[in-house]
Amino acid sequence: ADSVEVNEQGHLLIGGVDAVKLAEKYGTPLIAYDVRKIKKQIRGFKQAFEDAGVKYMVSYASKAFSALAMYQLINKYGLGCDIVSGGELYAALKGGMPPERIEFHGNNKLQDELEMAVDEKIGTIVVDNFREIKLLDHILRRKHANIGVVLRVTPGIEAETHQYIMTGQSNSKFGFDIRSGQAEEALQQLMKNPRMNLMGIHCHIGSQIFAVNGFLMAAEKLVEVLADWKKRFGYEADVLNLGGGFGIRYNDFDQPLPAEEFVSAIVERVKELVAKYELKMPEIIIEPGRAMVGEAATTLYTIGSRKDVDGVCHFLAVDGGMGDNIRPALYDAHYEAYLADRPNALREQMVTVVGKYCESGDVLVHDCALPNTKPGDILAMPSTGAYGYTMASNYNRNPRPAVVFCEDGKSRLVVRRETYADMMACELGLED
Ligand code: LLP
Repeated sequence: ADSVEVNEQGHLLIGGVDAVKLAEKYGTPLIAYDVRKIKKQIRGFKQAFEDAGVKYMVSYASKAFSALAMYQLINKYGLGCDIVSGGELYAALKGGMPPERIEFHGNNKLQDELEMAVDEKIGTIVVDNFREIKLLDHILRRKHANIGVVLRVTPGIEAETHQYIMTGQSNSKFGFDIRSGQAEEALQQLMKNPRMNLMGIHCHIGSQIFAVNGFLMAAEKLVEVLADWKKRFGYEADVLNLGGGFGIRYNDFDQPLPAEEFVSAIVERVKELVAKYELKMPEIIIEPGRAMVGEAATTLYTIGSRKDVDGVCHFLAVDGGMGDNIRPALYDAHYEAYLADRPNALREQMVTVVGKYCESGDVLVHDCALPNTKPGDILAMPSTGAYGYTMASNYNRNPRPAVVFCEDGKSRLVVRRETYADMMACELGLED
């Protein structure tokens, strides 16, 4: 917590707003974004492309945080977005995203979802498998429509990350395998399909990746494939999409590269490779999700009960937990936490921060050093802006938290707290 911003009272500031006041005003659990941090990432990812003078699109992977306010924000900056369901498509369109800047991902896109994408004339379907090619072709014929497609391949690269979020290896459920000739077969089907405009290829090697090397290897693999396809099939790609996965800082052990450095290293390498194989320079697309929003939000909780055994505090419980942040339970993700009213106070105790859910795995922070606390203190958990709210659940019928955007000392509620009635909205019961 040494680097956190505080006001004259020593309270944590989020986007210039006193975190203790935020908790008072909106209640807890509360997910509070510092909007400037999101903007900084947006600018960082774009700037490196601008500096390199190449054609590009930064496509925000909206599964990381798909609030209406977020689509509206990225749209202002001219970003594209990656969606993975009809629900995300619906939200993106509500948020004013231009359809041509939307790309649709997924390993089992449903007929209804594909129809919606075609009807809304979105820019790109990232084609993932043979069934999808058939299904999409059917829809396009019936609707007398065309659509842009990008072919997703698995380059056979194993990124160093948690196995649940590793996706580039050959046994991944996503995309066409290169080695076995699947990707080539898909290419041929797409090339001769007049309803699908094949724009290029895509890969995503995984998530929370710190080393740029994995991206460089992926770029190399994909450009090699393109060189081979040009020679053998006369196919030249307009688009090279290298996916997302740029790592962020959750705790002291995480040392991510700045967005700009990831991008400039990737662009440099693609330029070299394209020159080497005498290809035309494709538009480069990246799909950062976590890196765009992860470090921007801090979740505020109110501390409640504790459990001490033999004079040692084992568990300190807060008013949220696995329902608003499943990542520690699901991925063994390590977060930090400190107190909102004295983030830099001496840390006198070691606790396990747990939630209020009926589940022993409902842990937010293992081995968390904190000052002595009392019920009512506000606990701040930084770097909770990605895959927190979007993976939230109503387990135990706990309402999902509220979300605020903070900037220049002002806060704005962008997602209101769910109510008990909201949680019953789909229930029909037994009586008519
Ligand atoms: N592009 C594709 C095709 C993806 O599958 C993903 C993430 C991204 C981009 C964005 O990756 P990012 O830049 O956010 O790392 N729920 C997990 C992460 C799952 C990511 C799935 N795909 C978590 O909380 O860590």
